[in-house]
Amino acid sequence: MKYTLLELIGLASIGTVSWFVFREVWKFMYSTFIGHALGRSLSLKNIGQWAVVTGATDGIGRAYAEELASHGLNIVLISRSPYKLQNVAAEIESQYKVKTKIIDVDFTSGIEIYDRIKKEIEGLEIGVLINNVGMSYAYPEYLAEVPNATEFSQSLINCNVVSVTQMCILVLRQMVERKKGLILNVSSASAVLPTPLMTMYSSTKAYVYKFSEDLALEYAPFGITIQCVLPGFVVSKMSRYKKPAFRIPLPRDFVRGHMRTLGLEFASAGFWVHKILLGYYTKLNTVSPSTVVNVTFTNLSGTRQRALRRLQMQREQQENGIDTAKDK
Ligand SMILES: NC(=O)c1ccc[n+]([C@@H]2O[C@H](COP(=O)([O-])OP(=O)(O)OC[C@H]3O[C@@H](n4cnc5c(N)ncnc54)[C@H](OP(=O)(O)O)[C@@H]3O)[C@@H](O)[C@H]2O)c1
Repeated sequence: MKYTLLELIGLASIGTVSWFVFREVWKFMYSTFIGHALGRSLSLKNIGQWAVVTGATDGIGRAYAEELASHGLNIVLISRSPYKLQNVAAEIESQYKVKTKIIDVDFTSGIEIYDRIKKEIEGLEIGVLINNVGMSYAYPEYLAEVPNATEFSQSLINCNVVSVTQMCILVLRQMVERKKGLILNVSSASAVLPTPLMTMYSSTKAYVYKFSEDLALEYAPFGITIQCVLPGFVVSKMSRYKKPAFRIPLPRDFVRGHMRTLGLEFASAGFWVHKILLGYYTKLNTVSPSTVVNVTFTNLSGTRQRALRRLQMQREQQENGIDTAKDK
């Protein structure tokens, strides 16, 4: 059968597009479901006796701590509030029959906290580090209008950037000696998508992404897996979502989904719905960046306006309360 040139070009185009679609679908299915089912994901068996989790008393960090404890790892929990740390540690010990250690530090403070963390974890065989701690804006805002922008930017960088870098420095040598280890750095989908009005936050998360990417290459020859996690919205205090929905999982479901991808891909949105959404938006951003910018700008502007109205109402209520008190 003879084809015209036009028909040949058409067939080649259909073949190329089909190949790309098949490759993407296969990559998604393999890294999300099939690889783990075939036992190809990274095993935590014999990786080391302890896991260190930052921001471990709530949300995603707590879910990682519990998931790792369920695999038999002892857990070092690092967070801000001693009372919450003691409670979470006691619950993990009683439920999973593992050991815990707690370290209360505020990651927004200076570099001195890492001397203390170093002393506290000295001698522990650390197989897993979860760099999860992070903070964000109270609401989306223009850079120069962020309340206390100067101090806030310093705290944000300390908490989201310095913590990830310093914690890696603290554990990598002993992982290299044992030629084993897993480091998960929690970034955000905002690291790779346009996120106006959250500029400082998304930029700190872009640092985490690039840092993880290069560090993964640097330490792969030593047998260490470094993976970057790019969540979309997850139910938590930070996201302010209180109930799960199709695209907003509970931290536990997010983490279980992500654990199936271990060692199968460098960067993962973790939860399968987030993976599809992130894949869709990153591709759309390549083809039509203005569409993605419009969507995010409109959403985040709406959130900003609602937050400002709420704050204004609170101010008015407070003023009225004070006036009423004065009147009395
Ligand atoms: N939730 C989402 O939708 C979402 C989306 C994308 C990325 N992320 C990323 O996921 C990570 C976890 O977020 P999350 O939503 O699970 O947060 P979360 O529920 O607010 O929990 C934050 C945890 O970090 C601790 N923490 C916060 N600030 C700290 C500080 N300055 N020093 C020490 N500990 C501190 C908290 O301790 P206390 O309990 O003592 O306050 C808590 O244990 C963050 O890196 C975030 O950027 C989250």
